[in-house]
Parts: sequence; structure tokens; C-alpha cells
Amino acid sequence: MNGLEFPAMEAMKVGILGSGDVGRALAKGFLGLGHSVKIGTRDPQKLREWLSTAGDRVSSGTFAEAAKSGDLIVLATLGTGTEQALHLAGPENFAGKTVIDATNPLDFSGGMPPKLFVGHTDSLGERVQRWLPGARVVKAFNTVGNAFMVNPKFPGGPPDMFLCGNDEAAKKLVSQICQHFGWGVIDLGGIEGSRHLEPMCMVWVLYGARSGAWTHAFKMLHL
Ligand SMILES: NC(=O)c1ccc[n+]([C@@H]2O[C@H](COP(=O)([O-])OP(=O)(O)OC[C@H]3O[C@@H](n4cnc5c(N)ncnc54)[C@H](OP(=O)(O)O)[C@@H]3O)[C@@H](O)[C@H]2O)c1
Repeated sequence: MNGLEFPAMEAMKVGILGSGDVGRALAKGFLGLGHSVKIGTRDPQKLREWLSTAGDRVSSGTFAEAAKSGDLIVLATLGTGTEQALHLAGPENFAGKTVIDATNPLDFSGGMPPKLFVGHTDSLGERVQRWLPGARVVKAFNTVGNAFMVNPKFPGGPPDMFLCGNDEAAKKLVSQICQHFGWGVIDLGGIEGSRHLEPMCMVWVLYGARSGAWTHAFKMLHL
């Protein structure tokens, strides 16, 4: 909680699409705030061992089951697999819901460092919003490594989560979640801000590869 007090949140059902490091890290964060979580994957059985240590408010299911169950949905799928994951999840299961899009459009086909497969005049965040026209998509959590997504502790104080999206109420909810997770929040406006947040992930990655220490996060300084 960062030593600060924020308004209490009602317990939510969170559907997380993605069984990787990000899906699991955010699941633990939401569980820690008292919410319940269903993690969606193409193979729900593979999470059995992890689930056995994660408490009784979390379960696994298909992408469609996770999307259907969530009042709030988190998208934590491989960039290149995101369209297929949403197809499997069923766009109708996102209607009217806030969707946190933590994905990055990384193309690893040429090795490291990855390249972005979309950028400048479009972004994966905007594609997600177009694929889910009824959802309220908020790009967030894509500019930091999964190890620091929840309760990031740095000597310089709380880092800032940069986010964007078209729906003000959805951004308010996601901002509240970020604050409860221990982040400052910087709102960049509409979902087209993803064109700038997705390359920002590459700044994080390039510095990590160069320094060999993946222990950094962004903060904006203000007068
Ligand atoms: N790793 C980080 O620290 C970090 C930080 C910020 C943002 N991100 C972004 O967050 C997202 C998740 O990253 P991650 O490292 O947790 O895991 P990841 O390996 O990038 O993605 C894992 C998830 O993607 C799904 N997936 C992969 N290919 C698919 C396909 N063809 N169709 C449907 N689903 C597919 C997998 O489904 P199954 O469960 O069925 O295998 C799995 O749930 C990525 O977009 C990444 O760029 C990662």
C-alpha cells in the first residue's frame, strides 16, 4: 500500500487471459487485494501445480471462461497470440467491461532484442480496442517487468504507471488498482497513446539487456 491510503475497492471477479509470468504476477496482486481470479489459458491443467499454492480464490479455465467470469479482464497474452486469444475468448464476453491490456507487440523472430510488429501510426492497444469494440480498454502494466508490477519498492520512491484508454471511468478504476499496487499514475489520454507506451517497453528492455540488471522502472518528475 505504499504507506498511502486509497479508497477501499469492492471485491471483484478478475478474469486474466494469460498464464505466463505477467498473468501470474497480476493474479497474486489482485488476490492480495481480496479479489478473486480466474486465469485463462488454452490448457487449464498446466496451472494445477501453481494453483495449489495460490489460495482458494483463484482458479483456471479456458480463455472464454476467464473472460466470461471477469467483472474486470486483464489481457496478458503473447503479443503475436493476442488476436487468437481474443477470438478464443469470445469478444461478446468483454462487452461493457474494463480490460487492462498489458501486452506488447514484440516480434522475437529475428532474435534479441525483439522488434515491434506494429507502431507509429497504430498499436496493439488500438488493435485490441478494435477487436473488442464493446470493451473499455486501458493500456497499462506494459512498461515494467513482471517482478515489479505489484508493490514495487525502489529507493527513489514509487515509480509511475503510464496508462491510456478512451473511457474515463475505466481509467479511474485502473488508476485505483495501480495505486493500491503501489504505483503513481500518469494518464496519457486516449488509447492511441499505446503508440508511445509500447515502444517505451523497448526502452525498459534495452536498458535491462545493456545493464544486465532488470531492476528498473520509470518515474516522471514534476515541478
Ligand atoms: N514478462 C514481462 O515481464 C512483461 C512485462 C510487461 C509486459 N509484458 C507483456 O505481457 C504479455 C504476457 O507476457 P508473459 O511474459 O507473461 O507471457 P507470454 O509468454 O508473452 O504469453 C503467455 C500467454 O500467451 C498465450 N499465447 C501464446 N501464444 C498464443 C496463441 N497463438 N494463441 C493464444 N494464446 C497464446 C499463452 O497461452 P497458453 O496459456 O495457452 O500457453 C499464455 O497464456 C506479453 O504481451 C508481454 O510482451 C511482459
